[in-house]
Amino acid sequence: MQQETLISRAVEYIRSLFEGNSDGHDFDHSMRVYRTAMVIADTEPACDRQTVALAALLHDTDDAKLFATEHNENARKFLAKEKISEEAADRICAAINAVSFSKNRGKRPETLEAMIVQDADRLDAIGAVGIARTFAYGGKHSRSLDASIQHFDDKLLLLKDLMNTPKAREMAGERHRFMEQFICEWQKETGQ
Ligand code: NI
Repeated sequence: MQQETLISRAVEYIRSLFEGNSDGHDFDHSMRVYRTAMVIADTEPACDRQTVALAALLHDTDDAKLFATEHNENARKFLAKEKISEEAADRICAAINAVSFSKNRGKRPETLEAMIVQDADRLDAIGAVGIARTFAYGGKHSRSLDASIQHFDDKLLLLKDLMNTPKAREMAGERHRFMEQFICEWQKETGQ
């Protein structure tokens, strides 16, 4: 029960934090990452579920594209208010920082909890959701459809081989096949 109230307060915290964001995209993204992370956590009995849950929910609260914060300021503000021990907060923030594709390119996260959250974040970039997000992002940044299609080759089709956990690899395989099908159909329709 205690756990559930902590999680629901984290949900409310990110809801208000991302509120100014026009499309509410990042709140929805964080919630999907949280749900996927918990599905993976169910298959990884050795993980600390609270660390996974909080790291997933808070993983974008200090994203440089959205917030001008440093040292996980927004995440730590919530964790301090909830009287989470410093040691636990450090673990959560280490997991958050291991997730970032740009900050952590090529490096495998050091903890199981970070691996799970990174997998969940990457899974949200592929499959049907990944396709939708790619074109939403492209539209917002005035990219042509062709430029968005290029993003599949550049990044999205590489993600399935970067999963850390068996469950995520399985989920990624399914989402990957769907993207390949989409690209195939795109090429057929556009004669490319
Ligand atoms: Ni994310």
